[in-house]
Amino acid sequence: MTLVAGVDIGSTTAKCVLLDDGNVVGKSLAPVGVELVRDAEKALEQALGDAHRDRSEIRFVTGTGYGRFKVTFGQEAVTEIGCHARGAHFLFPGTRLVVDIGGQDTKAIRVGERGEVIDFAMNDKCAAGTGRFLDVCAGALGYDVAEIGALSLEARHPLKVTSTCTVFAESEVTSYVARGKDPKDVLAGLHASIASRSFSLMQRVGVAPEVTFTGGVSRNEGMVRALERKVGLHVNVSPLSQYLGAVGAALFGAERLSRPATGGS
Ligand SMILES: Nc1ncnc2c1ncn2[C@@H]1O[C@H](COP(=O)(O)OP(=O)(O)OP(=O)(O)O)[C@@H](O)[C@H]1O
Ligand SMILES: [Mg+2]
Repeated sequence: MTLVAGVDIGSTTAKCVLLDDGNVVGKSLAPVGVELVRDAEKALEQALGDAHRDRSEIRFVTGTGYGRFKVTFGQEAVTEIGCHARGAHFLFPGTRLVVDIGGQDTKAIRVGERGEVIDFAMNDKCAAGTGRFLDVCAGALGYDVAEIGALSLEARHPLKVTSTCTVFAESEVTSYVARGKDPKDVLAGLHASIASRSFSLMQRVGVAPEVTFTGGVSRNEGMVRALERKVGLHVNVSPLSQYLGAVGAALFGAERLSRPATGGS
């Protein structure tokens, strides 16, 4: 048995996945605060609790995500682009394009046959088209972000949401509702607008099947459908989609153990 851990410290959540001989045996998910080193420790401890395993059994820990250097107990840090590509390929080996929509970043990643990164594109510094954009607009309409995807799918007369800036979009959606529009129709417009922005990033690296959707926003079924409509292809998602960066990180560690380091990652 070879137990390895991947710890993904994102801008919004900390994820940890434990892999034992290529099987996911434990995982954890929690919001991040200001103490990232502690969040990383907690993520590992919770995943160990989930797997009913002891820390002494872990052979390798790989950190990833924006806070990967805060995984101070890890042996290696790998970029999240490489980890999402690797994790998506692990679950869906036919993946050629990954779209990762997290709390702060949206990335489109072209993936090769072995799960390697061929090219990638990401949003600029602003939050437009990311999970944060959805979080803010959901809050402005009085919903939890976990509810808005299903509601958007019930829209009968989808509206257009044209603001690309989070602050303007927030006032655009609230003013629609203030004018008596159905929130479901507003939400459908919001989802379509994010799908459009993601599609532009995907086009920059080249759209090819299979497309795999990773990151927390892939839990939003309204976003999955809006993306499929925009791209014109089936989009792979799984209950593990939010964890795929951590899965990829753990896989890098497993590879390190089976093939001693030659430099680079
Ligand atoms: N149950 C849910 N339903 C719908 N959306 C969700 C749900 N849970 C989380 N999200 C979305 O996922 C986002 C967080 O995604 P994720 O955990 O991939 O972010 P992150 O990795 O911390 O961020 P980044 O990669 O941008 O640094 C939240 O902002 C929220 O919009
Ligand atoms: Mg992330």
